[in-house]
Amino acid sequence: MAKYNLKVNGKMRSVDVDPTTPMLWVLRDHLNLVGTKYGCGIAMCGACTVHLNGMAMRSCQLPVSMVGTQEITTIEGLSEDASHPVQKAWLDHDVAQCGYCQSGQIMSAVALLKNNPNPSDEDIEATMSGNICRCGTYLRIKEAIKTAAKN
Ligand code: FES
Ligand code: FES
Repeated sequence: MAKYNLKVNGKMRSVDVDPTTPMLWVLRDHLNLVGTKYGCGIAMCGACTVHLNGMAMRSCQLPVSMVGTQEITTIEGLSEDASHPVQKAWLDHDVAQCGYCQSGQIMSAVALLKNNPNPSDEDIEATMSGNICRCGTYLRIKEAIKTAAKN
């Protein structure tokens, strides 16, 4: 076990965990930030996507020992009341079905718009293709990203 001081959603948090523990489990089991979901555990589905210094990252494959001073943002850190423009667009387009993948989808979409404020359909498809939705909400996700890009 080792102690880590992590910057999560703008606050310093301390955890005592095995260095190989994936950030997904640090967030969920130690910091009670359960908006980030477990899907595959092998970086293939995107359900566990968070931001590391603003870049989309699969937290299931990110050992806590690799984080250091980099800032982690989870879905809980976007806003306290779903008022982030991407969250608002998601609600406007009624994107979620079961909802399980949507935290990861939103985190990927926020990172996309940060790097590319006016993405084409192809840009959206290329970036979001790593986020799997078993409910098939892909068309609504694309429309919501276009709406968020205008706001
Ligand atoms: S749970 Fe991390 S990519 Fe699937
Ligand atoms: S909304 Fe159900 S998996 Fe995406």
